[in-house]
Amino acid sequence: MQLTTEQLKDKINEYKKKLDVTVVAHFYQRDEVFEIGDITGDSLELAQKTMVDDSEFVVFCGVGFMGQSVKVLSPHKCVVMPKVACCAMATMIDGAQFNVSVKALNDAGIPNENILPITYINSNAEVKAKVGEMGGMVCTSSNAKKIITTALKEGKKILFVPDRCLGQNIANQMGLKSCVLGDGTNLAESDIICFNGFCSVHQLFSVDDINFYRKKFPGILIAVHPECDPSICDASDFVGSTSQLIRYITELPEDQKVAVGTEFNLVNRLRPKNTYVLSSTKPECPTMNETTLQDVYDILKSIDEGEPLNEIKIDGHTQKWAKIALDRMLAL
Ligand code: 13P
Ligand code: SF4
Repeated sequence: MQLTTEQLKDKINEYKKKLDVTVVAHFYQRDEVFEIGDITGDSLELAQKTMVDDSEFVVFCGVGFMGQSVKVLSPHKCVVMPKVACCAMATMIDGAQFNVSVKALNDAGIPNENILPITYINSNAEVKAKVGEMGGMVCTSSNAKKIITTALKEGKKILFVPDRCLGQNIANQMGLKSCVLGDGTNLAESDIICFNGFCSVHQLFSVDDINFYRKKFPGILIAVHPECDPSICDASDFVGSTSQLIRYITELPEDQKVAVGTEFNLVNRLRPKNTYVLSSTKPECPTMNETTLQDVYDILKSIDEGEPLNEIKIDGHTQKWAKIALDRMLAL
């Protein structure tokens, strides 16, 4: 028999009381899943808060790379995912494609000792491990500028994977030269060489959307995530990570209109009035939306029955080097 939403919530709460479990939910989750999270936040906050939480089981409601980061930083915990959902951007690069990218730099006359790789946290553990082995580190959209500033002190070329938009936006902010692998630029002339990955959700926003809102509501502010194309970021009033956007928007005066270029579920619950989604197409992250209350219930039931489903497992080598890449970021 199909349980109603209220019945599912009650059963989930019963399991949460009975089991040594913490439910972790990303800001982009559906409202009903987000509401049952014991720990909520952006991808970095979730990994950091879960590290200091002492439950044996973590039920992670988000996408694969985020659950992996939790497992890498807290290897002794059993981390399970109600839905094994993959971030489209993270799937654009694997270890082999990372190696091919390094080779492209080598072919352009840049040897490995002159390359410092940085991977956006939206990448799988295998790529993080490769980056760690080459002396590089992870960054998030909130600390990318700081990480790149530190990395540049080593006087090396930065290979930035997988998000070309974040890499180019940070380069533009810092007055650095950037290019995208395969765009025909002489790689040796760029400070930051970006892999050609992107987020399909954040590609939905256009300069036409910005012009539309500016014309419709003179004085409106435009706030976007740095996974948007550089042309969008340049035409906006504020560019920030998920947590930075939340702070910026919730601190605006009540009558200030703002149009926001990021994931729908987050924008929808941000601020009751004067907040618009910067797109005529609903910018929902399909994989973030896959997780339902039924999935959370099913996974808690599997823990209770002693056979947890969808447990994240990472081999020892990948675990070691991915942790080093993440720890280098956390140390900064
Ligand atoms: P955060 O790191 O801000 O949580 O965002 C991850 C993400 O997938 C953005 O699209
Ligand atoms: Fe990945 Fe984009 Fe979804 Fe974020 S919004 S999880 S980058 S596909």
